[in-house]
Amino acid sequence: MELGRYLRVARHRLWMIIACPILAALSAGIVSFALPPVYEAHAALLVLPSNLGTSDPNVIPLTPDQILRTYALLLTQRKLLDEVIADLRLKTRPDDLAKRIKATPQPNTTILDIAVDDTNPALARNIANDLVDKLIGELKDIQTSHLQVPNSRLSDVLVPVSPAVVPDRPVSPTKALNISIAFGAGLLLAVGLAYLLERLDQSIKTNEDLTERLGLLPVGHIGYVLAGKGNRGELITLDAHSHASEAYRALRTSLLFSAIDRELKEIVVTSAEVGEGKSRTAANLAIVLAQAGHWTLLIDADFRRPAQHRMFARIRNVGLSNLILQDAAESEAIATVESVPNLCVLTSGPTPPNPSELLGSGRMRELMARLRTSFSYVIVDTPPVNAVTDASILSASANGTILVVEHGQTSFPALERAKQMLDRVGAHTIGVVMNKVRASSGSYAYDYGYYAASPDGHARPGRRPSSKSEAPTSSSGT
Ligand SMILES: Nc1ncnc2c1ncn2[C@@H]1O[C@H](COP(=O)(O)OP(=O)(O)O)[C@@H](O)[C@H]1O
Ligand SMILES: [Mg+2]
Repeated sequence: MELGRYLRVARHRLWMIIACPILAALSAGIVSFALPPVYEAHAALLVLPSNLGTSDPNVIPLTPDQILRTYALLLTQRKLLDEVIADLRLKTRPDDLAKRIKATPQPNTTILDIAVDDTNPALARNIANDLVDKLIGELKDIQTSHLQVPNSRLSDVLVPVSPAVVPDRPVSPTKALNISIAFGAGLLLAVGLAYLLERLDQSIKTNEDLTERLGLLPVGHIGYVLAGKGNRGELITLDAHSHASEAYRALRTSLLFSAIDRELKEIVVTSAEVGEGKSRTAANLAIVLAQAGHWTLLIDADFRRPAQHRMFARIRNVGLSNLILQDAAESEAIATVESVPNLCVLTSGPTPPNPSELLGSGRMRELMARLRTSFSYVIVDTPPVNAVTDASILSASANGTILVVEHGQTSFPALERAKQMLDRVGAHTIGVVMNKVRASSGSYAYDYGYYAASPDGHARPGRRPSSKSEAPTSSSGT
Protein backbone atom coordinates (compact mmCIF):
# COMPACT_ATOMS: atom_id res chain seq x y z
CA MET A 1 0.00 0.00 0.00
CA GLU A 2 1.44 3.34 -0.96
CA LEU A 3 1.11 6.47 1.16
CA GLY A 4 -2.02 7.72 -0.59
CA ARG A 5 -3.79 4.46 0.13
CA TYR A 6 -2.73 4.57 3.80
CA LEU A 7 -4.17 8.05 4.08
CA ARG A 8 -7.37 6.96 2.40
CA VAL A 9 -7.78 4.06 4.80
CA ALA A 10 -7.19 6.45 7.70
CA ARG A 11 -9.80 8.86 6.32
CA HIS A 12 -12.26 6.11 5.64
CA ARG A 13 -12.12 4.84 9.23
CA LEU A 14 -11.51 8.23 10.76
CA TRP A 15 -14.33 7.84 13.28
CA MET A 16 -12.66 4.71 14.62
CA ILE A 17 -9.20 6.23 14.74
CA ILE A 18 -10.58 9.22 16.65
CA ALA A 19 -13.09 7.43 18.87
CA CYS A 20 -10.90 4.53 20.04
CA PRO A 21 -8.12 6.56 21.72
CA ILE A 22 -10.62 9.04 23.15
CA LEU A 23 -12.69 6.23 24.66
CA ALA A 24 -9.58 4.52 26.02
CA ALA A 25 -8.29 7.79 27.54
CA LEU A 26 -11.73 8.54 28.97
CA SER A 27 -11.98 5.12 30.60
CA ALA A 28 -8.45 5.42 31.99
CA GLY A 29 -9.35 8.88 33.32
CA ILE A 30 -12.55 7.65 35.00
CA VAL A 31 -10.76 4.70 36.59
CA SER A 32 -7.83 6.90 37.69
CA PHE A 33 -10.15 9.42 39.31
CA ALA A 34 -12.25 6.71 40.94
CA LEU A 35 -9.25 4.97 42.50
CA PRO A 36 -8.27 6.28 45.96
CA PRO A 37 -4.94 8.12 46.01
CA VAL A 38 -2.06 6.15 47.52
CA TYR A 39 0.69 7.89 49.51
CA GLU A 40 4.18 6.59 50.10
CA ALA A 41 6.20 7.47 53.23
CA HIS A 42 9.97 6.93 53.24
CA ALA A 43 12.31 6.31 56.17
CA ALA A 44 16.07 5.83 55.87
CA LEU A 45 17.96 3.44 58.11
CA LEU A 46 21.74 3.52 58.34
CA VAL A 47 23.25 0.11 58.99
CA LEU A 48 26.70 0.09 60.56
CA PRO A 49 27.94 -3.46 60.08
CA SER A 50 30.13 -4.59 62.96
CA ASN A 51 32.70 -6.30 60.77
CA LEU A 52 33.55 -3.37 58.54
CA GLY A 53 37.27 -2.77 58.76
CA THR A 54 37.84 -5.83 60.99
CA SER A 55 40.30 -8.58 60.22
CA ASP A 56 38.84 -11.06 62.75
CA PRO A 57 39.08 -14.46 61.07
CA ASN A 58 35.95 -15.62 63.02
CA VAL A 59 33.79 -13.12 61.27
CA ILE A 60 32.28 -14.32 58.01
CA PRO A 61 32.94 -11.54 55.55
CA LEU A 62 29.57 -10.41 54.21
CA THR A 63 29.23 -7.66 51.62
CA PRO A 64 27.31 -4.53 52.69
CA ASP A 65 24.69 -5.45 50.11
CA GLN A 66 24.13 -8.87 51.69
CA ILE A 67 23.83 -7.29 55.13
CA LEU A 68 21.31 -4.69 53.92
CA ARG A 69 19.23 -7.33 52.14
CA THR A 70 19.12 -9.40 55.32
CA TYR A 71 17.67 -6.46 57.30
CA ALA A 72 15.30 -5.69 54.40
CA LEU A 73 13.98 -9.23 54.66
CA LEU A 74 13.65 -8.99 58.45
CA LEU A 75 11.35 -5.98 57.98
CA THR A 76 8.62 -8.08 56.40
CA GLN A 77 8.82 -10.99 58.82
CA ARG A 78 5.55 -12.00 60.44
CA LYS A 79 6.68 -11.24 64.01
CA LEU A 80 7.61 -7.66 63.22
CA LEU A 81 4.46 -7.08 61.19
CA ASP A 82 2.25 -8.45 63.98
CA GLU A 83 3.88 -6.04 66.40
CA VAL A 84 3.32 -3.05 64.10
CA ILE A 85 -0.32 -4.05 63.49
CA ALA A 86 -0.94 -4.39 67.20
CA ASP A 87 0.91 -1.19 67.99
CA LEU A 88 -0.99 0.97 65.47
CA ARG A 89 -4.24 -1.02 65.73
CA LEU A 90 -4.26 -1.58 61.99
CA LYS A 91 -7.13 -3.39 60.37
CA THR A 92 -5.00 -5.27 57.96
CA ARG A 93 -3.53 -8.72 57.63
CA PRO A 94 0.25 -9.16 57.96
CA ASP A 95 0.46 -10.52 54.38
CA ASP A 96 -1.30 -7.48 52.98
CA LEU A 97 0.88 -5.15 55.01
CA ALA A 98 4.02 -6.93 53.77
CA LYS A 99 2.94 -6.18 50.17
CA ARG A 100 2.85 -2.46 51.00
CA ILE A 101 6.40 -2.37 52.37
CA LYS A 102 9.42 -1.91 50.11
CA ALA A 103 12.89 -2.00 51.65
CA THR A 104 15.54 -1.04 49.11
CA PRO A 105 19.31 -0.94 49.78
CA GLN A 106 20.67 2.31 48.39
CA PRO A 107 23.43 1.57 45.90
CA ASN A 108 27.03 1.98 47.15
CA THR A 109 25.91 2.85 50.70
CA THR A 110 24.80 0.99 53.79
CA ILE A 111 21.51 2.86 53.90
CA LEU A 112 18.22 1.02 53.65
CA ASP A 113 15.29 2.95 52.19
CA ILE A 114 11.98 1.82 53.70
CA ALA A 115 8.87 2.82 51.81
CA VAL A 116 5.32 2.19 53.03
CA ASP A 117 2.15 2.68 50.96
CA ASP A 118 -1.20 3.68 52.37
CA THR A 119 -4.24 5.64 51.34
CA ASN A 120 -3.82 7.60 54.57
CA PRO A 121 -0.59 9.65 54.39
CA ALA A 122 -0.22 9.96 58.20
CA LEU A 123 -0.69 6.24 58.63
CA ALA A 124 1.94 5.53 55.95
CA ARG A 125 4.38 7.67 57.95
CA ASN A 126 3.49 5.98 61.26
CA ILE A 127 3.89 2.49 59.83
CA ALA A 128 7.30 3.34 58.32
CA ASN A 129 8.59 4.82 61.58
CA ASP A 130 7.13 2.04 63.68
CA LEU A 131 8.71 -0.57 61.44
CA VAL A 132 12.13 1.05 61.92
CA ASP A 133 11.62 1.17 65.72
CA LYS A 134 10.50 -2.43 65.81
CA LEU A 135 13.45 -3.58 63.70
CA ILE A 136 15.92 -1.79 65.99
CA GLY A 137 14.14 -3.26 69.05
CA GLU A 138 14.21 -6.70 67.48
CA LEU A 139 17.93 -6.47 66.84
CA LYS A 140 18.54 -5.37 70.45
CA ASP A 141 16.51 -8.35 71.71
CA ILE A 142 18.59 -10.69 69.65
CA GLN A 143 21.81 -9.04 70.80
CA THR A 144 20.91 -9.34 74.57
CA SER A 145 19.59 -12.89 74.32
CA HIS A 146 22.63 -14.13 72.38
CA LEU A 147 25.45 -12.22 74.18
CA GLN A 148 27.42 -15.31 74.94
CA VAL A 149 27.55 -16.40 71.27
CA PRO A 150 30.83 -15.19 69.72
CA ASN A 151 29.40 -13.71 66.55
CA SER A 152 30.25 -10.13 65.79
CA ARG A 153 27.27 -9.91 63.37
CA LEU A 154 25.15 -9.44 66.48
CA SER A 155 26.85 -6.17 67.27
CA ASP A 156 25.63 -4.37 64.11
CA VAL A 157 24.24 -0.92 64.82
CA LEU A 158 21.08 0.44 63.16
CA VAL A 159 20.64 4.23 63.11
CA PRO A 160 17.34 5.79 61.91
CA VAL A 161 18.98 8.61 59.94
CA SER A 162 15.85 9.98 58.35
CA PRO A 163 12.47 9.28 59.95
CA ALA A 164 9.44 9.22 57.69
CA VAL A 165 7.36 12.36 57.30
CA VAL A 166 3.76 12.72 56.08
CA PRO A 167 3.91 12.55 52.27
CA ASP A 168 2.18 15.50 50.64
CA ARG A 169 1.58 14.02 47.19
CA PRO A 170 0.11 10.68 46.20
CA VAL A 171 2.28 8.33 44.16
CA SER A 172 -0.65 6.72 42.44
CA PRO A 173 -2.81 6.75 40.47
CA THR A 174 -0.65 8.68 38.00
CA LYS A 175 -3.61 10.16 36.16
CA ALA A 176 -1.77 11.97 33.36
CA LEU A 177 0.45 8.97 32.67
CA ASN A 178 -2.44 6.50 32.71
CA ILE A 179 -4.49 8.69 30.38
CA SER A 180 -1.58 9.18 27.95
CA ILE A 181 -0.76 5.47 27.89
CA ALA A 182 -4.42 4.58 27.32
CA PHE A 183 -4.66 7.19 24.54
CA GLY A 184 -1.53 5.86 22.84
CA ALA A 185 -2.63 2.25 23.18
CA GLY A 186 -6.13 3.12 21.89
CA LEU A 187 -4.64 4.92 18.89
CA LEU A 188 -2.32 2.03 18.04
CA LEU A 189 -5.16 -0.44 18.39
CA ALA A 190 -7.48 1.67 16.21
CA VAL A 191 -4.90 2.12 13.46
CA GLY A 192 -4.08 -1.60 13.51
CA LEU A 193 -7.74 -2.51 13.43
CA ALA A 194 -8.46 -0.03 10.61
CA TYR A 195 -5.81 -1.63 8.39
CA LEU A 196 -6.89 -5.12 9.33
CA LEU A 197 -10.51 -4.32 8.45
CA GLU A 198 -9.33 -2.74 5.22
CA ARG A 199 -7.44 -5.91 4.31
CA LEU A 200 -10.48 -8.05 5.06
CA ASP A 201 -12.83 -5.62 3.30
CA GLN A 202 -13.38 -6.74 -0.30
CA SER A 203 -15.69 -3.90 -1.26
CA ILE A 204 -14.92 -1.41 -4.00
CA LYS A 205 -14.35 2.14 -2.85
CA THR A 206 -11.88 3.95 -5.04
CA ASN A 207 -11.10 4.62 -8.66
CA GLU A 208 -7.85 2.72 -8.20
CA ASP A 209 -9.80 -0.33 -7.10
CA LEU A 210 -11.45 -0.24 -10.52
CA THR A 211 -8.57 0.78 -12.73
CA GLU A 212 -5.67 -1.06 -11.12
CA ARG A 213 -7.33 -4.23 -9.95
CA LEU A 214 -9.96 -4.76 -12.62
CA GLY A 215 -8.91 -2.61 -15.55
CA LEU A 216 -12.31 -0.89 -15.59
CA LEU A 217 -12.85 2.76 -16.34
CA PRO A 218 -14.72 4.97 -13.85
CA VAL A 219 -17.22 7.00 -15.86
CA GLY A 220 -19.27 8.57 -13.11
CA HIS A 221 -19.84 9.03 -9.43
CA ILE A 222 -23.35 9.36 -8.10
CA GLY A 223 -23.70 10.41 -4.50
CA TYR A 224 -25.97 8.76 -2.01
CA VAL A 225 -29.28 10.57 -2.41
CA LEU A 226 -32.47 9.32 -0.84
CA ALA A 227 -35.34 8.97 -3.26
CA GLY A 228 -37.69 11.93 -3.14
CA LYS A 229 -41.26 11.73 -1.98
CA GLY A 230 -44.07 10.94 -4.37
CA ASN A 231 -44.38 8.31 -7.07
CA ARG A 232 -41.53 9.72 -9.15
CA GLY A 233 -39.09 10.05 -6.26
CA GLU A 234 -36.38 7.96 -7.94
CA LEU A 235 -36.22 10.40 -10.85
CA ILE A 236 -34.00 12.87 -9.07
CA THR A 237 -32.85 14.50 -12.31
CA LEU A 238 -36.34 15.92 -12.83
CA ASP A 239 -34.99 18.77 -10.72
CA ALA A 240 -32.31 19.84 -13.18
CA HIS A 241 -30.66 22.15 -10.65
CA SER A 242 -29.96 19.57 -7.97
CA HIS A 243 -26.46 18.34 -7.14
CA ALA A 244 -27.53 14.85 -8.11
CA SER A 245 -28.56 16.05 -11.57
CA GLU A 246 -25.12 17.51 -12.00
CA ALA A 247 -23.58 14.10 -11.32
CA TYR A 248 -25.79 12.43 -13.94
CA ARG A 249 -24.89 15.17 -16.42
CA ALA A 250 -21.22 14.47 -15.74
CA LEU A 251 -21.92 10.80 -16.44
CA ARG A 252 -23.64 11.77 -19.70
CA THR A 253 -20.59 13.82 -20.71
CA SER A 254 -18.24 10.94 -19.91
CA LEU A 255 -20.27 8.57 -22.04
CA LEU A 256 -20.40 10.99 -24.94
CA PHE A 257 -16.64 11.46 -24.68
CA SER A 258 -16.05 7.73 -24.64
CA ALA A 259 -18.00 7.42 -27.90
CA ILE A 260 -16.28 10.23 -29.73
CA ASP A 261 -14.78 7.93 -32.34
CA ARG A 262 -17.48 5.32 -32.63
CA GLU A 263 -21.16 4.90 -32.57
CA LEU A 264 -22.86 4.69 -29.21
CA LYS A 265 -26.58 4.31 -29.53
CA GLU A 266 -27.65 1.51 -27.30
CA ILE A 267 -26.39 1.59 -23.71
CA VAL A 268 -27.09 -1.41 -21.52
CA VAL A 269 -27.08 -0.53 -17.83
CA THR A 270 -26.30 -3.48 -15.62
CA SER A 271 -24.47 -4.50 -12.45
CA ALA A 272 -23.14 -7.56 -10.67
CA GLU A 273 -25.90 -7.97 -8.09
CA VAL A 274 -29.39 -6.67 -7.28
CA GLY A 275 -30.07 -3.35 -5.61
CA GLU A 276 -26.92 -1.55 -6.73
CA GLY A 277 -28.88 1.07 -8.62
CA LYS A 278 -29.21 -0.10 -12.23
CA SER A 279 -32.81 1.01 -12.61
CA ARG A 280 -32.32 4.41 -11.00
CA THR A 281 -29.15 5.03 -13.03
CA ALA A 282 -30.81 3.97 -16.29
CA ALA A 283 -33.84 6.19 -15.68
CA ASN A 284 -31.88 9.28 -14.70
CA LEU A 285 -29.30 8.80 -17.46
CA ALA A 286 -32.17 8.63 -19.96
CA ILE A 287 -33.66 11.82 -18.50
CA VAL A 288 -30.43 13.84 -18.70
CA LEU A 289 -29.82 12.62 -22.28
CA ALA A 290 -33.34 13.77 -23.19
CA GLN A 291 -32.80 17.05 -21.34
CA ALA A 292 -29.76 17.66 -23.57
CA GLY A 293 -32.01 17.38 -26.60
CA HIS A 294 -31.30 13.76 -27.58
CA TRP A 295 -34.31 11.69 -28.64
CA THR A 296 -34.03 8.96 -26.02
CA LEU A 297 -35.81 5.67 -25.33
CA LEU A 298 -35.62 3.95 -21.97
CA ILE A 299 -36.37 0.23 -22.11
CA ASP A 300 -37.09 -1.89 -19.05
CA ALA A 301 -35.60 -5.25 -20.03
CA ASP A 302 -35.59 -6.55 -16.46
CA PHE A 303 -38.46 -9.03 -16.63
CA ARG A 304 -37.42 -10.46 -13.26
CA ARG A 305 -37.77 -7.26 -11.25
CA PRO A 306 -39.22 -4.63 -13.55
CA ALA A 307 -38.87 -1.14 -12.05
CA GLN A 308 -39.30 1.53 -14.73
CA HIS A 309 -43.13 1.41 -14.74
CA ARG A 310 -42.98 2.12 -11.00
CA MET A 311 -40.39 4.88 -11.33
CA PHE A 312 -42.41 6.62 -14.07
CA ALA A 313 -45.74 5.89 -12.37
CA ARG A 314 -47.19 3.74 -15.14
CA ILE A 315 -48.79 0.39 -15.52
CA ARG A 316 -46.97 -2.26 -17.51
CA ASN A 317 -49.87 -3.94 -19.26
CA VAL A 318 -48.25 -3.33 -22.66
CA GLY A 319 -44.48 -3.24 -23.01
CA LEU A 320 -41.31 -4.92 -24.25
CA SER A 321 -42.61 -8.46 -23.98
CA ASN A 322 -45.59 -7.55 -26.20
CA LEU A 323 -43.32 -5.96 -28.82
CA ILE A 324 -41.06 -9.02 -28.94
CA LEU A 325 -44.08 -11.28 -29.33
CA GLN A 326 -45.47 -8.79 -31.88
CA ASP A 327 -48.87 -8.67 -30.23
CA ALA A 328 -48.88 -4.90 -29.81
CA ALA A 329 -47.93 -1.90 -31.92
CA GLU A 330 -44.84 0.15 -31.03
CA SER A 331 -46.95 3.25 -30.84
CA GLU A 332 -49.08 1.56 -28.22
CA ALA A 333 -46.18 0.29 -26.06
CA ILE A 334 -43.76 3.19 -26.31
CA ALA A 335 -45.02 6.25 -24.51
CA THR A 336 -43.62 9.72 -24.18
CA VAL A 337 -42.98 11.14 -20.72
CA GLU A 338 -44.81 14.28 -19.84
CA SER A 339 -42.52 16.90 -18.28
CA VAL A 340 -39.45 15.39 -20.01
CA PRO A 341 -39.45 16.30 -23.70
CA ASN A 342 -37.50 13.90 -25.97
CA LEU A 343 -37.93 10.96 -23.61
CA CYS A 344 -39.90 7.80 -24.30
CA VAL A 345 -40.32 4.83 -22.01
CA LEU A 346 -40.96 1.20 -22.91
CA THR A 347 -41.93 -0.71 -19.79
CA SER A 348 -41.25 -4.43 -19.45
CA GLY A 349 -44.82 -5.43 -20.20
CA PRO A 350 -46.23 -8.64 -18.73
CA THR A 351 -43.55 -10.95 -17.35
CA PRO A 352 -42.89 -13.86 -19.71
CA PRO A 353 -42.07 -17.32 -18.34
CA ASN A 354 -38.82 -17.47 -20.33
CA PRO A 355 -37.16 -14.02 -20.21
CA SER A 356 -33.71 -15.13 -21.44
CA GLU A 357 -35.18 -16.91 -24.45
CA LEU A 358 -37.27 -13.87 -25.34
CA LEU A 359 -34.32 -11.47 -25.03
CA GLY A 360 -32.05 -13.72 -27.10
CA SER A 361 -34.61 -14.23 -29.87
CA GLY A 362 -34.27 -13.02 -33.44
CA ARG A 363 -37.39 -10.90 -32.97
CA MET A 364 -35.75 -9.06 -30.11
CA ARG A 365 -32.69 -8.34 -32.28
CA GLU A 366 -34.92 -7.03 -35.05
CA LEU A 367 -36.85 -4.87 -32.62
CA MET A 368 -33.64 -3.40 -31.18
CA ALA A 369 -32.28 -2.72 -34.67
CA ARG A 370 -35.49 -0.84 -35.49
CA LEU A 371 -35.46 1.14 -32.25
CA ARG A 372 -31.80 2.08 -32.70
CA THR A 373 -32.61 3.78 -35.96
CA SER A 374 -35.62 5.59 -34.52
CA PHE A 375 -33.87 7.02 -31.46
CA SER A 376 -30.61 8.85 -30.78
CA TYR A 377 -30.05 6.80 -27.64
CA VAL A 378 -31.61 3.65 -26.30
CA ILE A 379 -30.97 2.99 -22.60
CA VAL A 380 -31.68 -0.57 -21.46
CA ASP A 381 -32.33 -1.45 -17.81
CA THR A 382 -31.44 -5.08 -17.11
CA PRO A 383 -31.22 -7.71 -14.35
CA PRO A 384 -27.87 -8.32 -12.63
CA VAL A 385 -25.19 -10.06 -14.70
CA ASN A 386 -24.22 -12.54 -12.00
CA ALA A 387 -27.77 -13.71 -11.41
CA VAL A 388 -29.11 -14.46 -14.90
CA THR A 389 -27.86 -14.36 -18.49
CA ASP A 390 -30.31 -11.65 -19.64
CA ALA A 391 -27.86 -8.75 -19.28
CA SER A 392 -25.07 -10.66 -21.04
CA ILE A 393 -27.41 -11.45 -23.94
CA LEU A 394 -28.40 -7.79 -24.29
CA SER A 395 -24.84 -6.52 -23.86
CA ALA A 396 -23.54 -8.79 -26.58
CA SER A 397 -25.53 -6.95 -29.24
CA ALA A 398 -25.42 -3.45 -27.72
CA ASN A 399 -22.58 -1.09 -28.57
CA GLY A 400 -22.06 0.01 -24.99
CA THR A 401 -22.53 -1.41 -21.50
CA ILE A 402 -22.08 0.39 -18.23
CA LEU A 403 -21.68 -1.41 -14.93
CA VAL A 404 -23.19 0.13 -11.82
CA VAL A 405 -21.19 -0.44 -8.64
CA GLU A 406 -22.53 0.30 -5.21
CA HIS A 407 -19.80 2.19 -3.41
CA GLY A 408 -18.41 0.28 -0.42
CA GLN A 409 -20.81 -2.60 -1.06
CA THR A 410 -20.14 -4.32 -4.37
CA SER A 411 -17.25 -6.72 -3.86
CA PHE A 412 -14.23 -7.32 -6.06
CA PRO A 413 -15.06 -10.97 -6.74
CA ALA A 414 -18.63 -10.05 -7.72
CA LEU A 415 -17.57 -7.27 -10.09
CA GLU A 416 -14.74 -9.35 -11.49
CA ARG A 417 -17.18 -12.14 -12.25
CA ALA A 418 -19.59 -9.71 -13.93
CA LYS A 419 -16.77 -8.29 -16.03
CA GLN A 420 -15.65 -11.77 -17.08
CA MET A 421 -19.20 -12.71 -18.09
CA LEU A 422 -19.48 -9.56 -20.21
CA ASP A 423 -16.03 -10.07 -21.74
CA ARG A 424 -16.95 -13.64 -22.63
CA VAL A 425 -19.93 -12.53 -24.75
CA GLY A 426 -17.87 -9.78 -26.38
CA ALA A 427 -19.73 -6.92 -24.70
CA HIS A 428 -18.28 -3.47 -25.08
CA THR A 429 -17.96 -2.37 -21.45
CA ILE A 430 -17.58 1.40 -21.45
CA GLY A 431 -16.94 1.72 -17.72
CA VAL A 432 -18.28 1.83 -14.22
CA VAL A 433 -20.69 4.17 -12.49
CA MET A 434 -19.84 4.33 -8.79
CA ASN A 435 -23.27 4.71 -7.19
CA LYS A 436 -24.42 5.63 -3.66
CA VAL A 437 -21.11 7.31 -2.85
CA ARG A 438 -21.42 8.67 0.65
CA ALA A 439 -19.76 12.02 1.22
CA SER A 440 -18.49 10.81 4.61
CA SER A 441 -16.69 7.80 3.17
CA GLY A 442 -13.47 9.74 2.68
CA SER A 443 -12.59 7.84 -0.45
CA TYR A 444 -12.84 10.64 -2.94
CA ALA A 445 -12.35 14.33 -3.06
CA TYR A 446 -15.81 14.32 -4.47
CA ASP A 447 -17.97 17.20 -4.67
CA TYR A 448 -19.83 14.69 -6.77
CA GLY A 449 -21.63 17.37 -8.68
CA TYR A 450 -18.36 18.40 -10.27
CA TYR A 451 -16.94 15.10 -11.34
CA ALA A 452 -16.06 14.41 -14.91
CA ALA A 453 -13.93 11.78 -16.54
CA SER A 454 -11.11 12.78 -18.82
CA PRO A 455 -10.80 11.16 -22.23
CA ASP A 456 -7.82 9.16 -20.95
CA GLY A 457 -10.23 7.55 -18.60
CA HIS A 458 -9.20 8.95 -15.27
CA ALA A 459 -11.98 10.59 -13.39
CA ARG A 460 -10.97 13.89 -11.96
CA PRO A 461 -12.71 16.92 -10.59
CA GLY A 462 -13.74 18.99 -13.53
CA ARG A 463 -15.72 22.06 -14.32
CA ARG A 464 -19.42 21.80 -14.60
CA PRO A 465 -20.01 20.80 -18.19
CA SER A 466 -22.54 22.79 -20.11
CA SER A 467 -24.68 20.99 -22.63
CA LYS A 468 -23.16 23.12 -25.38
CA SER A 469 -19.65 21.90 -24.63
CA GLU A 470 -20.57 18.23 -24.72
CA ALA A 471 -18.97 15.93 -27.23
CA PRO A 472 -20.92 15.66 -30.43
CA THR A 473 -23.02 12.58 -30.82
CA SER A 474 -22.93 10.31 -33.77
CA SER A 475 -26.52 10.97 -34.60
CA SER A 476 -28.86 13.84 -34.29
CA GLY A 477 -32.18 13.73 -32.56
CA THR A 478 -35.09 12.75 -34.65
N1 LIG B 1 -27.55 7.02 -5.62
C1 LIG B 1 -28.39 6.45 -4.77
N2 LIG B 1 -28.51 6.96 -3.50
C2 LIG B 1 -29.35 6.37 -2.63
N3 LIG B 1 -30.13 5.33 -2.90
C3 LIG B 1 -30.04 4.79 -4.13
C4 LIG B 1 -29.18 5.32 -5.12
N4 LIG B 1 -29.34 4.58 -6.25
C5 LIG B 1 -30.26 3.65 -5.94
N5 LIG B 1 -30.68 3.77 -4.70
C6 LIG B 1 -31.69 2.95 -4.00
O1 LIG B 1 -31.26 1.60 -4.04
C7 LIG B 1 -32.36 0.73 -4.23
C8 LIG B 1 -32.10 -0.14 -5.44
O2 LIG B 1 -32.05 0.69 -6.57
P1 LIG B 1 -32.41 0.13 -8.00
O3 LIG B 1 -32.13 1.18 -9.00
O4 LIG B 1 -33.81 -0.45 -8.01
O5 LIG B 1 -31.36 -1.05 -8.06
P2 LIG B 1 -31.27 -2.28 -9.09
O6 LIG B 1 -32.06 -1.91 -10.31
O7 LIG B 1 -29.80 -2.41 -9.35
O8 LIG B 1 -31.80 -3.48 -8.39
C9 LIG B 1 -33.58 1.61 -4.37
O9 LIG B 1 -34.25 1.66 -3.14
C10 LIG B 1 -33.03 2.97 -4.71
O10 LIG B 1 -33.84 4.01 -4.19
MG1 LIG C 1 -33.64 -2.83 -11.29
